[in-house]
Amino acid sequence: MTVVETGTAPPALAANAAYILRGNDIGTLTTAAPRLYPHLWSWDAAFVAIGLATVSVPRAVAELTTLLGAQWASGMLPHIVFGPDEGYFPGPDVWGATAPSGARTSGICQPPVHAIAVRRVLDAGRRNGGADRDLAERFAADTFDRWLAWHRWLATARDPDGRGLLEIHHGWESGMDNSPRWDLAYAGVRPGLDLLTGRERRDLQHVTDARQRPTDGEYRRYLWLVHQMKEARYDDVAVRETVDFRMTDVFMSAVAALASDVLAELGDEFGRRSEADELRTLADRFRAGVLSTVSPSTGLARDVDLRTGAVVDVPTIGGFAPLLSGGDAALVRRQLDLFTGPHWCGHPDLRYALPPSTAPGYAGYSPRTYWRGPQWPFMNWLLYWTLYRAGHRDEALSLRSEGLRQLGDLAFGEYYEPHTGEALGSAHQSWTAAVALDWLIVPPR
Ligand code: SER
Repeated sequence: MTVVETGTAPPALAANAAYILRGNDIGTLTTAAPRLYPHLWSWDAAFVAIGLATVSVPRAVAELTTLLGAQWASGMLPHIVFGPDEGYFPGPDVWGATAPSGARTSGICQPPVHAIAVRRVLDAGRRNGGADRDLAERFAADTFDRWLAWHRWLATARDPDGRGLLEIHHGWESGMDNSPRWDLAYAGVRPGLDLLTGRERRDLQHVTDARQRPTDGEYRRYLWLVHQMKEARYDDVAVRETVDFRMTDVFMSAVAALASDVLAELGDEFGRRSEADELRTLADRFRAGVLSTVSPSTGLARDVDLRTGAVVDVPTIGGFAPLLSGGDAALVRRQLDLFTGPHWCGHPDLRYALPPSTAPGYAGYSPRTYWRGPQWPFMNWLLYWTLYRAGHRDEALSLRSEGLRQLGDLAFGEYYEPHTGEALGSAHQSWTAAVALDWLIVPPR
């Protein structure tokens, strides 16, 4: 185990992280968090599997199997797979969606990080050898077509014109629910019904103050969009034609580029040559799409409102999408300088040199509010893993050591106040524990 300065001895941090994951395990799924998020979230599950793989390859495989068990006939992986708990709003009654397997799900998706988890679980199985290796290799080979179907669905249903930019219909699909990236789009969403009054915002019961969560006004819009999509029976074409929120998501597109490359590598290993070629073509398409959005003046990638054509120029973590997708060495260098510089990770007022979700200098920056400022440990891990893989080792290792220092408080917060290091949002968040385990146990490679 590599020694990293955490403020807590690494074995104690790892043991606590494993304890959190075990505590959040309800059998076939690990809840994203015990109280605020008592179900499986799609991209959370990928990071959870990455963490679980360090302690139990079979349990990591089970997590991804549960997610795949809720895959829609179209290939979409839904953003929530509901467990038995009734304590989350909006729950399955609001969504009214069911997978062919009978699993109760939401009707939208999240960024396709999953191939990275499959890769990581396979690597863990091979490190361990024996039954773990056999299981991980069988799982990766047997499920390859399911992940491929997911990527194909994204490419066809969400990028029908082949521009290399994925379209989303809800801020929840980005995973960055209330990021300033979506403010302009939400300003154009005028709920035809008040679907919040008389309902209980359960999320507010599990944070120390309501400012850490989206506002009621934002929630009314969130619920209205769900209503519109449900009215369209979650039909891909009908939703696109009727929903009030249609944005390209440059960060999700970059994840699609990265994950398509990773899945292509798995295809190579399993002798799936034409599928691997297809995935590399997809990766190139998304990479080019991401690069086409970069602002020459700020160097950040941008989202576009497909209803109005407006380009969104706000300094959020989403702007660093090219760090995930690559494809232009000079731009990536420029972004790394910006990323490590005084406006982002190197900002003199930050407790840890980690990326805030919105730039501290931005007028709408709010250091305690969800995606409007706080730092997110899973995001630090994703950037760490991608940058290391691309050969940017110093920047990657800095994210790892700073990320571990941040988690030395053992709170395993959902997100962190960038200036004080206070854990915010949900406590005992599974993907936070998961990335701590990976950082502590798996040597960078
Ligand atoms: N992140 C959302 C929530 O806060 C759901 O996707 O509930």
